[in-house]
Amino acid sequence: MKTVLSCIQPTGDLHLGNYFGAVQNWVRLQDEYKCFYGVVDYHSMTMPYNPVQLRENTWKMVFYLLACGIKPENLFIQSLVPEHIELSWILGCTTSYGELTRMTQFKDKTEQLRETDKDAFVSLGLFAYPVLQAADILIYHADYVPVGKDQEQHLELSRNIAQRFNHQFGKEYFAHPEPLFTETPKILSPADPNKKMSKSLGEKHYINLFGEETRVRKQIKSAVTDTGEPSNGGMSAGVKSLFDLLRACNSMDAHDALMADYSAGALKYSDLKESVANAVVGLINPFRERFEALQADKKSVKNQIQDASGEIRKRAQQTLREVREITGLGSLKG
Ligand code: AMP
Ligand code: TRP
Repeated sequence: MKTVLSCIQPTGDLHLGNYFGAVQNWVRLQDEYKCFYGVVDYHSMTMPYNPVQLRENTWKMVFYLLACGIKPENLFIQSLVPEHIELSWILGCTTSYGELTRMTQFKDKTEQLRETDKDAFVSLGLFAYPVLQAADILIYHADYVPVGKDQEQHLELSRNIAQRFNHQFGKEYFAHPEPLFTETPKILSPADPNKKMSKSLGEKHYINLFGEETRVRKQIKSAVTDTGEPSNGGMSAGVKSLFDLLRACNSMDAHDALMADYSAGALKYSDLKESVANAVVGLINPFRERFEALQADKKSVKNQIQDASGEIRKRAQQTLREVREITGLGSLKG
């Protein structure tokens, strides 16, 4: 059975974009592949952060992912598998300074830091981030890595690192991980349908997957539809985005009926918004209920994920034993 791995940073909330663009797909892949999904807290140390919040967000993300349908045995917290760091050091020695300087995410994040302070501190951790990502992937010999297009460059680097390692040590040891760019809808901001739904734009630009029903309904009700009609007289970005949401929620009957209204020039935006709100609330209410049920049993869920991380760690330790052997490091017992 082929292996799938993907990871997400513990950034606080999960929104509809994250769900339709990533998590829904992760859940489905579990039926077909051996899957490993990580909440990558080491990665979140590469930008300024608060330790109390990091730990809180890490567990929150665990509970969110479980509520969405990720199986507990497939889920781990990165820092509970510290072998990722050891492999990252070893792989760092087969990565060149030059290729890391070409990583656009490093350049973007450096710029982001310097926007507020031109002398901002840029850490080695931020620079080495893609090497740790390569370690996340290679430590489980992942065949497929479902990610967004923004991660394409990091995936290519992971493949180059694997190839260079294999070449340097004369052994086809690491698999060549392939990105899995599954067709997923791009979800737009309800407040500005010319932009992607995103947390970094601010609260009104994303719909929280675990949000309260009243707030979610209100956000959809006030979604921007009038973005200035396109010059060809077609559908405005805001209206199209609402139809896309209906389709993403699988509300095809409502979608088709409202589309017929639109074609007949009889669409009422209030009807469209009402249908979208019903569809979204129908999707997210069960998630929130599951989240709350898991929260009520916090301790045992935490234990379960600690155990799962321990089991997953055994695979990582096996890789490290082999890598130590191949690279001439002192060997580990067992
Ligand atoms: P981020 O936390 O923004 O890096 O997003 C995590 C994952 O969610 C990415 O891999 C994207 O594939 C997905 N994602 C984020 N925002 C959107 C969006 N507006 N529409 C679709 N997918 C998204
Ligand atoms: N860099 C990814 C992001 O920002 C998160 C990530 C870390 C990741 N390690 C990974 C994704 C390994 C896939 C595989 O979204």
